[in-house]
Amino acid sequence: MKNALSWILILFLTVSLLNNCLNNTVNKEIRQKTDFIANLRKLYSSGDFSQWPKPILDPESVPTFSEIGHLPDVELPGDNQYSDEKAMLGKTLFFDPRLSRSNQIACASCHDPELAWCDNRTVSFGHDRQAGTRNAMSILNVAYAKSLFWDGRAKSLEEQSQIPIQDEKEMGEHIDIAAGKIAKIKGYEILFEKAFGDKTVTKDRISKAIATFERTIKSLPSKFDQFIDGKSELYTDDEVMGLHLFRTKAQCMNCHNSGYFSNSSFENIGTSLLGEKGEDLGRYSVTKNPEDAGKFRVPGLREISKTGPFLHNGSMTTLTEVIQFYSKGNPEHGQKRSTVHEGITLASEKSGMVRMLELTDEEISQLEAFLRTLSGKSEKITVPEFPK
Ligand code: HEC
Ligand code: HEC
Repeated sequence: MKNALSWILILFLTVSLLNNCLNNTVNKEIRQKTDFIANLRKLYSSGDFSQWPKPILDPESVPTFSEIGHLPDVELPGDNQYSDEKAMLGKTLFFDPRLSRSNQIACASCHDPELAWCDNRTVSFGHDRQAGTRNAMSILNVAYAKSLFWDGRAKSLEEQSQIPIQDEKEMGEHIDIAAGKIAKIKGYEILFEKAFGDKTVTKDRISKAIATFERTIKSLPSKFDQFIDGKSELYTDDEVMGLHLFRTKAQCMNCHNSGYFSNSSFENIGTSLLGEKGEDLGRYSVTKNPEDAGKFRVPGLREISKTGPFLHNGSMTTLTEVIQFYSKGNPEHGQKRSTVHEGITLASEKSGMVRMLELTDEEISQLEAFLRTLSGKSEKITVPEFPK
């Protein structure tokens, strides 16, 4: 009896000892994790970039790399300087449906300020309600894009603005006819005179005015901007971890870098649907260089929580989906590896910088939490009165 009691006592003591050890290890781990995040928080919100942990980069990305941070000042082209009058004329034209053949579709129909300057549709519809093939990009921060469209086919905003006016599926109007229609509207004379010194309406002036207006559409400071400026308590632990993952383990920084969160290059991340319905050869259609098949412009990620659905074809509806796709190394299910296009064999070669990341569910949600801090407040935009 006595013996049995001592055994029970010994067992009890052993179990509590083990339990204590285990608790200590768990507590230690929690403490270490808390210390780790507290330290990251301190470094990232220090206001001093030189204190930030080093990013994990592929050698390939180094030439186009610059650290993430605030948006710099907008650079203006030498032949189209800014004036309030020009921006006001540009705004009026941007909202004016009379630039379209039906007099029903304005730039703002697909780039709606209430929908973060895009249309939140998978693909847009335009003239005669025809559907396009690509997702409308937001024009927020477009001043920072080094080339325009998903395939970079326009070099400047001035050049870009004439394309949707003429696109059969968008505004469907010849640019000369569109300019002629604007020239016949008496009320526009004064706006052109204020902007350009005389009342002559030309397609070139229309483009310059619209581009000038677009360069003013810029994100307001986001939670991210405030956090890195020293408001250290603004971020949750998950957001701090998400920022760190973005720069390190998840390797997003290889392509999404600078204050604009894009290195402005063209990359193939395995989304071209080569040889399938919905195939989009991307940059290849502009350069005809087989190496560019399936490459798209790296989009900036500011305001990303408001500009879904995502990717050039709007095929992903949530950010979780996008991050899960990257985590798995962007599997191209059932995609053909090559296709023949106008007699030329094309293969879709995914970038070497896209690989299995094996992020945990927790890490995926931390990355998403971070991406959501890249949006600023939405500005209330008043639609201008249309000249008569
Ligand atoms: C019918 C819908 C529609 C209309 C109308 C429209 N757009 Fe777009 N916009 C799009 C789509 C779709 C894309 C992406 C197309 C692509 O990449 O091929 C785009 C892309 C852009 C881009 C490129 C953004 C970037 O980051 O590269 C700019 C700038 C732009 N549009 C400005 C305008 C202007 C200015 C007008 C009016 C003159 C206009 N859009 C009219 C749908 C539209
Ligand atoms: C090799 C370069 C590269 C890397 C690395 C990369 N991206 Fe991208 N990202 C792109 C390109 C190119 C696109 C556009 C692809 C398309 O439209 O088909 C894109 C699109 C996106 C989009 C959709 C944007 C939109 O406006 O529709 C999100 C969100 C995104 N990336 C987040 C991330 C995150 C998070 C990581 C890290 C896990 C990451 N990216 C890593 C190049 C890259």
